Amino acid sequence: MSAVTTVQSNYLSTYAKLQSWVGEVAALTRPAEIHWCEGTPEEWVRITDTLVENGTFTRLNDEKKPNSFYCASDPTDVARVEDRTFICSVDEKDAGPTNNWMAPDDMKELMRGLYDGCMQGRTMYVIPFVMGHLESDHPMFGVEITDSAYVVASMTVMARIGKDVLDKIESTEADYVPALHSFGAPLADGQADVPWPCNDTKYIVQFPEERTIWSYGSSYGGNALLGKKCYALRIASVMGRDEGWMAEHMLILKLTNPEGVVKYIAAGFPSACGKTNLAMVEPTIPGWKVETIGDDIAWIRVGADGRLYAVNPEFGLFGVAPGTGWDTNSNAMRTIAQGNSVFTNVALTDDGDVWWEGMTDEPPAHLTDWKGNDWTPDSDQLSSHANSRFCTPIKQCPTLAPEYDDPNGVPLDAILFGGRRKTTIPLVTEARDWTHGTFMGATLSSETTAAATGAVGVVRRDPMAMLPFIGYDAGDYFGHWINMAKNNDESKFPKIFYVNWFRRDEDGGFLWPGFGENSRILKYVIDRVEGKVEAHETPIGLVPPTSSIDTDGLDVTDEQLAEALRVDADEWAAELPQINEWFEKFGDTLPAVLWTELDGLKARLGL
Ligand code: GTP
Ligand code: MN
Ligand code: MN
Repeated sequence: MSAVTTVQSNYLSTYAKLQSWVGEVAALTRPAEIHWCEGTPEEWVRITDTLVENGTFTRLNDEKKPNSFYCASDPTDVARVEDRTFICSVDEKDAGPTNNWMAPDDMKELMRGLYDGCMQGRTMYVIPFVMGHLESDHPMFGVEITDSAYVVASMTVMARIGKDVLDKIESTEADYVPALHSFGAPLADGQADVPWPCNDTKYIVQFPEERTIWSYGSSYGGNALLGKKCYALRIASVMGRDEGWMAEHMLILKLTNPEGVVKYIAAGFPSACGKTNLAMVEPTIPGWKVETIGDDIAWIRVGADGRLYAVNPEFGLFGVAPGTGWDTNSNAMRTIAQGNSVFTNVALTDDGDVWWEGMTDEPPAHLTDWKGNDWTPDSDQLSSHANSRFCTPIKQCPTLAPEYDDPNGVPLDAILFGGRRKTTIPLVTEARDWTHGTFMGATLSSETTAAATGAVGVVRRDPMAMLPFIGYDAGDYFGHWINMAKNNDESKFPKIFYVNWFRRDEDGGFLWPGFGENSRILKYVIDRVEGKVEAHETPIGLVPPTSSIDTDGLDVTDEQLAEALRVDADEWAAELPQINEWFEKFGDTLPAVLWTELDGLKARLGL
């Protein structure tokens, strides 16, 4: 409790554990002052005004985007840094072969060195937050400490934060995930600040046993908004393993057919592979309606009736900007049009609005690009970074389903996995059962995107779209998937499908138009759940004949659709050694039933 009293703070918590942690962090990082966030509209104004004064934010034209801000990051701090992300379990083995690991004590010593005095000359913000509903049976609390006002503004949009959350943490002396963030840029007396402070040294660290997060050096969303990937996926996946539930990188949507029958679907696609798009898709088939529940993260629990119920723990949308336009995702456009949003690394128009590639067919004649340079349609560079993002309140989404507010979530009828593959993976394949679906998820592959630093377009395994987010040994995580069905009534569980919107023809064009037309696949999925249409057994699972897919008014020939659905024996023969090599990484933590699935697949392919 000692050090905090030496720094000016707007609040002292009555909850000794919380107050002493805040005091310890202040003693280590030595901020000029401490500000506990209340999440009020007045605080938002103060924080965003501060960011405008510092040159971090540019206020957008109120008539175009009310109460909204443009922001450009340091050009080196634009995405998640997977090679700097660590799972520091006590035992190295528990991090598994897909995570970086360091012994917790070594990591803490190293990072204490980095945190030492790192907030000098700055305000240390304390953000009480809850992932999921404050009214749920067991609210999932966190407290983020950060020196970044950008993080405060973004967390205000992305999570439920503030005084009511703090009151409940204090009055119930609740457990919370302590999440420490610093961009690592202390300010000496009189030193001029920069618009986007950050540090070349970056660490994004999860301590799974302690359920603690330490992040340093970056203010990019996935690295710095610690309620999101770090807590709601990495730490929560560990909690789920221990407590019998699941934290997944999945959208959640509500689908209503023309007769008014409602179904719920969750879908796990890797970063920048179409979750936000599908979550608010406008169906092209008449009479069908899609409503949004979540676009990135699903927490899935077994309900009293034995079904799997999914909630979206987030409060905002942090969506990929490029490719979001009135033609592709009009509901996202309607959401941001209401304002109250932060746009990072997009381009600024001359009349104080934002623009990015794919927003409109015709780019404006002149822009300021994300690096602050003049940009015209003749420029040979993109105006916006490929991983530029909009951060906007989910409550503004015109298609938000009322069930979003239900702390118990929605019962899932189907789970989709999907990746970005030019070849091999058909438009849609249905798993024979939960174990086969787990195999599909465990072997999911996708071409890398700009959402993480590193090469783009390289095929890698991304199990359940969770490769960067599994907080423990991925082999054990597959085991957890298998156990969910073993320990419950599998007959009540959703059917699992594997989709691929990204298969290409010989000329490199997409075989499937995607976007709104994906509603035809959602319809097919539900038709299968209800046993209304047929699918053929193939070596890789159940694949529809073209006649099972509603193609009324679709601008795709039967041959093209057949090509999109084709199971190509040669392509699969090339795929199998890769799956084999992938499974061998895991040694004895890989559930034996997944080897059995692979053997069965080989045999059915005659290999
Ligand atoms: P994260 O938010 O990073 O987890 O990614 P996400 O899965 O939400 O990705 P998002 O929906 O933002 O999609 C990103 C990219 O996928 C954009 O470039 C879209 O244009 C493209 N995309 C989305 N759906 C489709 C589709 O059906 N077909 C094609 N060809 N591209 C699509
Ligand atoms: Mn994501
Ligand atoms: Mn998204």
